[in-house]
Amino acid sequence: MNSLSVEIKPARDETEFSSIEHICQLTRISSISLSERIKGLIAVSPEGIIVGGVLYYVGFQHNGQIIAAIDALAVHPAHQKKKIGKNIVLTLIEILKIQGTGEVTTVPINHTEPFYESCGFQPDNEHPPIYMLEF
Ligand SMILES: CC(C)(COP(=O)(O)OP(=O)(O)OC[C@H]1O[C@@H](n2cnc3c(N)ncnc32)[C@H](O)[C@@H]1OP(=O)(O)O)[C@@H](O)C(=O)NCCC(=O)NCCS
Repeated sequence: MNSLSVEIKPARDETEFSSIEHICQLTRISSISLSERIKGLIAVSPEGIIVGGVLYYVGFQHNGQIIAAIDALAVHPAHQKKKIGKNIVLTLIEILKIQGTGEVTTVPINHTEPFYESCGFQPDNEHPPIYMLEF
């Protein structure tokens, strides 16, 4: 299957944050730092299963504007390459724009620079290895 129709929505409780954490661990992302300030989005399949998610922070100040940072993004290995990761990131971008955030940054791992570029990010040449998207 080339795509899977998922609903993207905010992670609301500990169980949903734990699901994101679990998928991150399945994909061997180890540096997860769940804290009170972290927010999350989940991708839910038509069967109601959480198949991916992102953890992010909002509120860093840079050049007088509020910026967000993606901490961890993962799609369940059984459902990768079905546009779920892109759907999650593009939904996050729309949410951040509506909230008045000026910029979102991340440090791509696992050679995912092309993935982030396909979502509109560009390398921050002044601060490698950061990638960023200004709104
Ligand atoms: C990286 C990840 C989130 C991408 O999610 P996905 O649902 O598999 O990717 P998508 O189907 O949305 O791909 C969107 C685009 O990115 C490209 N892409 C996907 N995974 C990629 C990867 N690992 N490296 C480079 N490009 C990738 C796709 O080819 C696609 O390109 P296109 O739009 O030109 O067709 C997923 O592969 C994953 O969970 N990987 C393990 C965890 C990880 O490495 N996370 C990195 C961020 S912290």
